[in-house]
Amino acid sequence: MSPDPVLDAIEAKAKALLLQGSPSGHDFAHVRRVHALCCRLAYMEQAPVLRPVLEAAALLHDIGREYERKDPAVDHALKSAELAEPILRKAGFPVQHIPQVLQAIRAHRFSTKRMPESLEAMLLQDADWIDASGALGIATTFAYGGAHDRTLYHPDDPFAEDRALDDGTYSLDHFYTKILRLSDSLHTESAKAIARERSAFTRGYLEQMRKEMAGEC
Ligand SMILES: [Fe+2]
Ligand SMILES: [Fe+2]
Repeated sequence: MSPDPVLDAIEAKAKALLLQGSPSGHDFAHVRRVHALCCRLAYMEQAPVLRPVLEAAALLHDIGREYERKDPAVDHALKSAELAEPILRKAGFPVQHIPQVLQAIRAHRFSTKRMPESLEAMLLQDADWIDASGALGIATTFAYGGAHDRTLYHPDDPFAEDRALDDGTYSLDHFYTKILRLSDSLHTESAKAIARERSAFTRGYLEQMRKEMAGEC
């Protein structure tokens, strides 16, 4: 909990909403890690951010996840922003800064490629995308795949050497369609440094997987 009662109220609301479901890894534990990463990146970059904007956006950025899980036509970033506005008002968040929080939330989603319009939105994108990488990214990728009825990997061509990638069917493909490409889109040098370390771990994991599939170890 933060020493700020407004952020405390926002965190409590986010926790209540995110504890309602999501076996896919996009749960309150993810939000806590993203919040911590946002604070870490702001410190590492010595970034002149509006800290309450950054923290509120981090806490609320995925509260619409459950809606997207039930209906894939829903964009959870837009839904999260829609749900966030009354929560921010009710918690007493400074009204003049609410639009910045909502923009950061709308922009955070990787697949929509919305551009962040502020430093706070950039740090949230960086933190959210870093949390999709490394050991936790591996766990989340397979948890998400399981929750969406995806197979671990293509039985005949696991690493898509002779076929198009299809991460809607095979969890392993998701590393090549998204996870290992995330670092190309990061904004800050601090995030890129963390991403390099995590990508090296992920590549080592995939290499070990390849060896085990081939019976080499
Ligand atoms: Fe998200
Ligand atoms: Fe997220």
